[in-house]
Amino acid sequence: MEIKIQKTATPAEKPDSSTLGFGKVFTDHMFIMDYTAGEGWHDARIVPFGKVEIHPASTVLHYGSEIFEGLKAYRKADGSVQMFRPIENIRRMNRSAERMCLPQIPEDLALEVLTKFIEFEQEWTPSAEGTSLYIRPFMFGNDESLGVHSVKNATFMIITSPVGSYYKEGINPVKIMIETNDVRAVRGGTGEAKCGGNYAASNRAGDRAEKLGYSQVLWLDGVERKYIEEVGAMNVMFKIGGEIVTPMLAGSILPGITRKSIIELLKSEGYAVSERLISIDELAEALENGTLEEAWGCGTAAVVSPIGELCYKDNKYVINEGKIGEVTQHLYDTLTGIQWGKVEDTFGWTYKIN
Ligand code: PLP
Ligand code: COI
Repeated sequence: MEIKIQKTATPAEKPDSSTLGFGKVFTDHMFIMDYTAGEGWHDARIVPFGKVEIHPASTVLHYGSEIFEGLKAYRKADGSVQMFRPIENIRRMNRSAERMCLPQIPEDLALEVLTKFIEFEQEWTPSAEGTSLYIRPFMFGNDESLGVHSVKNATFMIITSPVGSYYKEGINPVKIMIETNDVRAVRGGTGEAKCGGNYAASNRAGDRAEKLGYSQVLWLDGVERKYIEEVGAMNVMFKIGGEIVTPMLAGSILPGITRKSIIELLKSEGYAVSERLISIDELAEALENGTLEEAWGCGTAAVVSPIGELCYKDNKYVINEGKIGEVTQHLYDTLTGIQWGKVEDTFGWTYKIN
Protein backbone atom coordinates (compact mmCIF):
# COMPACT_ATOMS: atom_id res chain seq x y z
CA MET A 1 0.00 0.00 0.00
CA GLU A 2 1.23 3.50 -0.78
CA ILE A 3 2.12 5.45 2.37
CA LYS A 4 1.97 9.25 2.05
CA ILE A 5 4.70 10.95 4.01
CA GLN A 6 4.54 14.37 5.60
CA LYS A 7 7.79 15.12 7.41
CA THR A 8 7.88 17.28 10.49
CA ALA A 9 9.26 20.78 10.00
CA THR A 10 10.41 20.84 13.63
CA PRO A 11 12.33 17.64 14.47
CA ALA A 12 12.81 17.22 18.20
CA GLU A 13 16.12 16.68 19.88
CA LYS A 14 16.71 13.05 20.87
CA PRO A 15 16.53 12.52 24.63
CA ASP A 16 19.52 11.52 26.74
CA SER A 17 19.30 7.68 26.79
CA SER A 18 20.33 7.48 30.43
CA THR A 19 17.22 9.37 31.55
CA LEU A 20 14.59 7.37 29.65
CA GLY A 21 11.69 5.97 31.63
CA PHE A 22 8.69 4.33 29.96
CA GLY A 23 6.40 5.96 27.41
CA LYS A 24 6.98 9.61 28.20
CA VAL A 25 8.92 10.74 25.11
CA PHE A 26 7.55 10.24 21.60
CA THR A 27 9.24 10.28 18.24
CA ASP A 28 8.74 12.92 15.55
CA HIS A 29 6.12 11.07 13.49
CA MET A 30 3.16 8.72 13.77
CA PHE A 31 1.47 6.34 11.37
CA ILE A 32 -2.27 6.51 10.61
CA MET A 33 -4.55 4.48 8.35
CA ASP A 34 -8.35 4.50 8.13
CA TYR A 35 -10.88 1.75 7.63
CA THR A 36 -14.29 2.02 6.03
CA ALA A 37 -16.57 -1.01 5.70
CA GLY A 38 -16.88 -2.02 2.06
CA GLU A 39 -13.68 -0.18 1.18
CA GLY A 40 -11.16 -1.70 3.60
CA TRP A 41 -8.02 0.04 4.86
CA HIS A 42 -7.04 3.23 3.06
CA ASP A 43 -5.16 6.53 3.36
CA ALA A 44 -2.03 5.14 4.97
CA ARG A 45 0.13 8.08 6.04
CA ILE A 46 3.08 9.06 8.15
CA VAL A 47 2.53 12.50 9.65
CA PRO A 48 4.19 14.69 12.30
CA PHE A 49 3.44 13.41 15.82
CA GLY A 50 0.58 15.40 17.27
CA LYS A 51 -3.01 15.54 18.44
CA VAL A 52 -5.72 13.68 16.55
CA GLU A 53 -9.10 15.23 15.90
CA ILE A 54 -12.03 13.02 16.78
CA HIS A 55 -15.81 13.41 16.50
CA PRO A 56 -17.46 13.84 19.93
CA ALA A 57 -19.78 10.89 19.17
CA SER A 58 -16.90 8.62 18.06
CA THR A 59 -17.47 5.03 19.21
CA VAL A 60 -14.19 4.84 21.12
CA LEU A 61 -15.13 7.74 23.39
CA HIS A 62 -18.39 6.15 24.49
CA TYR A 63 -18.13 2.40 24.21
CA GLY A 64 -14.42 1.74 24.63
CA SER A 65 -13.93 0.19 21.22
CA GLU A 66 -10.13 0.04 21.37
CA ILE A 67 -7.30 -2.46 21.16
CA PHE A 68 -3.54 -2.06 21.28
CA GLU A 69 -0.26 -3.89 20.97
CA GLY A 70 3.20 -3.44 22.41
CA LEU A 71 6.48 -4.52 20.87
CA LYS A 72 9.99 -3.13 20.64
CA ALA A 73 12.76 -2.33 18.17
CA TYR A 74 16.32 -2.85 19.41
CA ARG A 75 19.58 -1.33 18.23
CA LYS A 76 22.36 -3.87 17.78
CA ALA A 77 26.03 -3.17 18.40
CA ASP A 78 26.62 -2.86 14.62
CA GLY A 79 24.06 -0.02 14.50
CA SER A 80 21.30 -2.00 12.77
CA VAL A 81 17.76 -2.20 14.16
CA GLN A 82 15.58 -5.27 14.67
CA MET A 83 12.15 -6.08 16.07
CA PHE A 84 11.19 -9.11 18.17
CA ARG A 85 8.52 -11.49 16.80
CA PRO A 86 6.35 -8.75 15.21
CA ILE A 87 4.14 -11.27 13.45
CA GLU A 88 3.05 -12.59 16.86
CA ASN A 89 1.85 -9.11 17.82
CA ILE A 90 0.03 -8.74 14.51
CA ARG A 91 -1.75 -12.07 15.00
CA ARG A 92 -2.71 -11.19 18.56
CA MET A 93 -3.97 -7.79 17.41
CA ASN A 94 -6.25 -9.47 14.90
CA ARG A 95 -7.54 -11.84 17.60
CA SER A 96 -8.21 -8.83 19.86
CA ALA A 97 -9.93 -7.08 16.93
CA GLU A 98 -12.17 -10.10 16.38
CA ARG A 99 -13.20 -10.07 20.06
CA MET A 100 -13.88 -6.33 20.07
CA CYS A 101 -15.71 -6.28 16.72
CA LEU A 102 -13.04 -4.17 15.07
CA PRO A 103 -11.75 -4.85 11.53
CA GLN A 104 -8.94 -7.27 10.74
CA ILE A 105 -5.73 -6.00 9.18
CA PRO A 106 -4.29 -8.56 6.72
CA GLU A 107 -1.00 -9.82 8.22
CA ASP A 108 1.14 -8.79 5.25
CA LEU A 109 -0.34 -5.27 5.23
CA ALA A 110 0.18 -4.88 8.99
CA LEU A 111 3.78 -6.09 8.74
CA GLU A 112 4.45 -3.85 5.74
CA VAL A 113 3.22 -0.63 7.37
CA LEU A 114 4.87 -1.48 10.70
CA THR A 115 8.22 -2.19 9.07
CA LYS A 116 8.08 0.91 6.87
CA PHE A 117 7.19 3.15 9.80
CA ILE A 118 9.94 1.76 12.05
CA GLU A 119 12.42 2.10 9.20
CA PHE A 120 11.30 5.72 8.82
CA GLU A 121 11.72 6.48 12.56
CA GLN A 122 14.70 4.17 13.11
CA GLU A 123 17.13 6.88 14.16
CA TRP A 124 15.01 7.22 17.32
CA THR A 125 16.01 3.71 18.45
CA PRO A 126 18.32 4.40 21.38
CA SER A 127 21.60 2.52 21.77
CA ALA A 128 22.37 2.73 25.50
CA GLU A 129 22.34 -0.54 27.47
CA GLY A 130 18.79 -1.66 28.30
CA THR A 131 17.04 0.88 26.06
CA SER A 132 14.82 0.27 23.04
CA LEU A 133 12.15 1.85 20.88
CA TYR A 134 8.76 0.85 22.27
CA ILE A 135 6.20 0.46 19.48
CA ARG A 136 2.53 1.00 20.29
CA PRO A 137 0.15 0.05 17.47
CA PHE A 138 -3.51 0.68 18.33
CA MET A 139 -6.91 0.65 16.69
CA PHE A 140 -10.18 2.29 17.63
CA GLY A 141 -13.75 2.28 16.43
CA ASN A 142 -14.59 5.63 14.90
CA ASP A 143 -18.26 5.72 13.85
CA GLU A 144 -19.77 9.15 14.33
CA SER A 145 -23.00 7.94 15.93
CA LEU A 146 -24.22 6.73 19.31
CA GLY A 147 -25.79 3.39 18.32
CA VAL A 148 -24.25 0.35 20.01
CA HIS A 149 -23.01 -2.14 17.43
CA SER A 150 -19.84 -3.21 15.69
CA VAL A 151 -18.27 -0.34 13.79
CA LYS A 152 -18.12 0.54 10.11
CA ASN A 153 -15.25 2.97 10.53
CA ALA A 154 -11.99 2.50 12.39
CA THR A 155 -8.57 4.08 12.67
CA PHE A 156 -5.25 2.28 13.09
CA MET A 157 -2.23 4.16 14.37
CA ILE A 158 1.34 3.47 15.45
CA ILE A 159 3.23 5.68 17.85
CA THR A 160 6.78 5.04 19.05
CA SER A 161 8.65 5.96 22.20
CA PRO A 162 12.32 5.50 23.14
CA VAL A 163 12.26 3.72 26.51
CA GLY A 164 14.43 2.47 29.34
CA SER A 165 13.05 0.27 32.14
CA TYR A 166 9.35 -0.07 32.78
CA TYR A 167 9.78 -0.29 36.54
CA LYS A 168 11.96 2.17 38.41
CA GLU A 169 13.57 -0.93 39.97
CA GLY A 170 14.95 -1.97 36.53
CA ILE A 171 16.07 -5.60 36.84
CA ASN A 172 15.92 -5.43 40.65
CA PRO A 173 13.09 -7.43 42.24
CA VAL A 174 9.67 -5.76 42.46
CA LYS A 175 7.03 -6.08 45.18
CA ILE A 176 3.65 -7.38 44.04
CA MET A 177 0.32 -7.48 45.91
CA ILE A 178 -2.17 -10.28 45.34
CA GLU A 179 -5.55 -8.63 44.72
CA THR A 180 -8.41 -10.21 46.64
CA ASN A 181 -11.21 -7.74 45.92
CA ASP A 182 -11.37 -6.59 42.30
CA VAL A 183 -11.06 -9.05 39.43
CA ARG A 184 -9.63 -8.39 36.01
CA ALA A 185 -11.37 -10.85 33.73
CA VAL A 186 -13.56 -13.89 33.40
CA ARG A 187 -13.60 -16.57 30.72
CA GLY A 188 -15.77 -15.41 27.86
CA GLY A 189 -14.96 -11.80 28.75
CA THR A 190 -12.18 -9.72 27.23
CA GLY A 191 -9.21 -10.83 29.36
CA GLU A 192 -7.35 -12.50 26.53
CA ALA A 193 -7.82 -9.48 24.24
CA LYS A 194 -5.43 -6.57 24.54
CA CYS A 195 -8.13 -3.93 24.87
CA GLY A 196 -7.94 -0.64 26.72
CA GLY A 197 -10.93 -1.38 28.95
CA ASN A 198 -9.08 -4.21 30.71
CA TYR A 199 -6.50 -1.72 31.87
CA ALA A 200 -8.97 1.03 32.82
CA ALA A 201 -10.79 -1.42 35.09
CA SER A 202 -7.57 -2.58 36.70
CA ASN A 203 -6.40 0.87 37.78
CA ARG A 204 -8.38 0.93 41.03
CA ALA A 205 -6.58 -2.12 42.40
CA GLY A 206 -3.27 -0.98 40.90
CA ASP A 207 -3.54 2.42 42.60
CA ARG A 208 -4.38 0.81 45.95
CA ALA A 209 -1.35 -1.46 45.65
CA GLU A 210 0.92 1.44 44.70
CA LYS A 211 -0.19 3.44 47.73
CA LEU A 212 0.91 0.50 49.88
CA GLY A 213 4.33 0.41 48.21
CA TYR A 214 3.72 -2.35 45.64
CA SER A 215 4.55 -2.06 41.94
CA GLN A 216 1.50 -3.90 40.63
CA VAL A 217 -1.18 -6.42 41.55
CA LEU A 218 -1.30 -10.15 40.85
CA TRP A 219 -4.81 -11.05 39.74
CA LEU A 220 -6.78 -14.08 40.85
CA ASP A 221 -9.43 -15.69 38.64
CA GLY A 222 -12.72 -13.83 38.46
CA VAL A 223 -15.03 -16.70 39.46
CA GLU A 224 -13.52 -18.50 42.44
CA ARG A 225 -10.74 -16.02 43.27
CA LYS A 226 -8.65 -19.06 43.79
CA TYR A 227 -6.33 -19.40 40.82
CA ILE A 228 -3.39 -17.21 39.85
CA GLU A 229 -3.87 -15.32 36.57
CA GLU A 230 -1.33 -12.61 35.71
CA VAL A 231 0.20 -9.34 36.88
CA GLY A 232 -1.11 -5.93 35.71
CA ALA A 233 1.17 -5.66 32.68
CA MET A 234 2.96 -9.02 32.68
CA ASN A 235 2.40 -12.74 32.74
CA VAL A 236 3.75 -14.56 35.77
CA MET A 237 5.91 -17.63 36.31
CA PHE A 238 7.12 -19.49 39.39
CA LYS A 239 9.74 -22.05 40.23
CA ILE A 240 8.21 -24.27 42.89
CA GLY A 241 10.20 -27.25 44.18
CA GLY A 242 12.25 -27.35 40.99
CA GLU A 243 9.23 -27.17 38.63
CA ILE A 244 8.63 -24.12 36.46
CA VAL A 245 4.95 -23.32 36.37
CA THR A 246 2.81 -20.64 34.79
CA PRO A 247 -0.97 -20.24 34.58
CA MET A 248 -2.39 -21.94 31.51
CA LEU A 249 -4.12 -19.90 28.83
CA ALA A 250 -7.79 -20.51 29.49
CA GLY A 251 -9.39 -17.39 28.03
CA SER A 252 -8.98 -14.82 30.78
CA ILE A 253 -5.29 -13.91 30.64
CA LEU A 254 -3.27 -12.26 27.93
CA PRO A 255 -1.33 -14.76 25.79
CA GLY A 256 1.97 -12.95 26.21
CA ILE A 257 4.62 -13.19 23.53
CA THR A 258 7.36 -12.99 26.15
CA ARG A 259 5.62 -15.83 28.02
CA LYS A 260 5.48 -17.92 24.85
CA SER A 261 9.13 -17.20 24.07
CA ILE A 262 10.27 -18.11 27.58
CA ILE A 263 8.37 -21.41 27.48
CA GLU A 264 9.93 -22.24 24.09
CA LEU A 265 13.37 -21.22 25.33
CA LEU A 266 13.16 -23.21 28.58
CA LYS A 267 11.82 -26.31 26.81
CA SER A 268 14.64 -26.10 24.25
CA GLU A 269 17.08 -26.16 27.16
CA GLY A 270 15.50 -29.25 28.68
CA TYR A 271 13.55 -27.61 31.52
CA ALA A 272 10.12 -29.00 32.35
CA VAL A 273 7.55 -26.21 32.15
CA SER A 274 3.94 -26.74 33.19
CA GLU A 275 1.12 -24.53 31.99
CA ARG A 276 -1.58 -25.33 34.48
CA LEU A 277 -3.91 -24.10 37.19
CA ILE A 278 -1.97 -22.71 40.15
CA SER A 279 -4.13 -22.13 43.18
CA ILE A 280 -3.45 -19.42 45.69
CA ASP A 281 -3.40 -22.17 48.36
CA GLU A 282 -0.59 -23.97 46.54
CA LEU A 283 1.30 -20.71 46.21
CA ALA A 284 0.73 -19.71 49.85
CA GLU A 285 1.91 -23.15 50.99
CA ALA A 286 5.00 -22.92 48.81
CA LEU A 287 5.67 -19.43 50.19
CA GLU A 288 5.30 -20.70 53.73
CA ASN A 289 7.36 -23.88 53.43
CA GLY A 290 10.08 -22.23 51.35
CA THR A 291 9.61 -24.31 48.17
CA LEU A 292 8.79 -21.20 46.13
CA GLU A 293 12.30 -20.68 44.82
CA GLU A 294 11.73 -17.96 42.24
CA ALA A 295 8.93 -15.81 40.86
CA TRP A 296 9.08 -13.44 37.92
CA GLY A 297 6.85 -11.44 35.65
CA CYS A 298 7.39 -11.32 31.90
CA GLY A 299 6.20 -8.93 29.23
CA THR A 300 7.46 -6.70 26.45
CA ALA A 301 7.62 -3.52 28.52
CA ALA A 302 8.97 -5.12 31.70
CA VAL A 303 11.02 -7.87 29.93
CA VAL A 304 11.76 -10.35 32.77
CA SER A 305 11.10 -8.84 36.15
CA PRO A 306 11.99 -10.75 39.33
CA ILE A 307 9.38 -10.67 42.09
CA GLY A 308 11.08 -10.20 45.44
CA GLU A 309 8.01 -9.92 47.64
CA LEU A 310 4.40 -11.05 47.41
CA CYS A 311 1.71 -9.77 49.75
CA TYR A 312 -1.41 -11.87 50.26
CA LYS A 313 -4.10 -10.82 52.73
CA ASP A 314 -1.65 -8.71 54.75
CA ASN A 315 0.92 -11.51 54.91
CA LYS A 316 4.20 -10.47 53.34
CA TYR A 317 6.35 -13.16 51.80
CA VAL A 318 9.92 -12.51 50.70
CA ILE A 319 11.06 -14.70 47.79
CA ASN A 320 14.67 -15.85 47.36
CA GLU A 321 15.75 -13.35 50.03
CA GLY A 322 14.50 -10.54 47.78
CA LYS A 323 17.22 -11.32 45.24
CA ILE A 324 17.01 -12.22 41.55
CA GLY A 325 17.00 -16.03 41.09
CA GLU A 326 19.21 -18.10 38.85
CA VAL A 327 16.54 -19.02 36.26
CA THR A 328 15.18 -15.46 36.23
CA GLN A 329 18.65 -14.04 35.58
CA HIS A 330 19.30 -16.65 32.88
CA LEU A 331 16.02 -15.80 31.15
CA TYR A 332 16.68 -12.08 31.33
CA ASP A 333 20.20 -12.50 29.92
CA THR A 334 19.18 -14.87 27.12
CA LEU A 335 16.05 -13.06 26.03
CA THR A 336 17.58 -9.59 26.10
CA GLY A 337 20.71 -11.07 24.50
CA ILE A 338 18.65 -12.29 21.53
CA GLN A 339 16.68 -9.03 21.37
CA TRP A 340 19.78 -6.83 21.30
CA GLY A 341 21.63 -9.24 19.00
CA LYS A 342 24.27 -10.27 21.54
CA VAL A 343 23.13 -13.91 21.70
CA GLU A 344 22.62 -15.95 18.54
CA ASP A 345 18.92 -16.16 17.61
CA THR A 346 18.53 -19.85 16.87
CA PHE A 347 14.73 -19.52 17.01
CA GLY A 348 14.33 -17.01 14.15
CA TRP A 349 12.55 -14.55 16.47
CA THR A 350 14.28 -11.39 15.38
CA TYR A 351 13.12 -9.38 12.38
CA LYS A 352 15.63 -7.06 10.75
CA ILE A 353 14.61 -3.54 9.80
CA ASN A 354 17.78 -2.51 7.98
N1 PLP B 1 -0.35 -9.48 30.50
C1 PLP B 1 -0.76 -8.21 30.38
C2 PLP B 1 -1.99 -7.81 31.09
C3 PLP B 1 -0.02 -7.29 29.61
O1 PLP B 1 -0.42 -6.03 29.50
C4 PLP B 1 1.15 -7.74 28.97
C5 PLP B 1 1.93 -6.82 28.15
O2 PLP B 1 1.75 -6.70 27.00
C6 PLP B 1 1.53 -9.07 29.10
C7 PLP B 1 0.76 -9.91 29.88
C8 PLP B 1 2.74 -9.61 28.40
O3 PLP B 1 2.54 -9.73 27.03
P1 PLP B 1 3.75 -9.62 25.99
O4 PLP B 1 4.80 -10.53 26.48
O5 PLP B 1 3.18 -10.02 24.70
O6 PLP B 1 4.18 -8.20 26.02
C1 COI C 1 3.63 -4.25 27.06
O1 COI C 1 4.37 -4.91 27.77
O2 COI C 1 3.87 -4.03 25.88
C2 COI C 1 2.40 -3.69 27.55
O3 COI C 1 1.55 -3.46 26.76
C3 COI C 1 2.27 -3.35 28.93
C4 COI C 1 1.64 -2.00 29.04
C5 COI C 1 0.26 -2.12 29.51
C6 COI C 1 2.46 -1.03 29.77
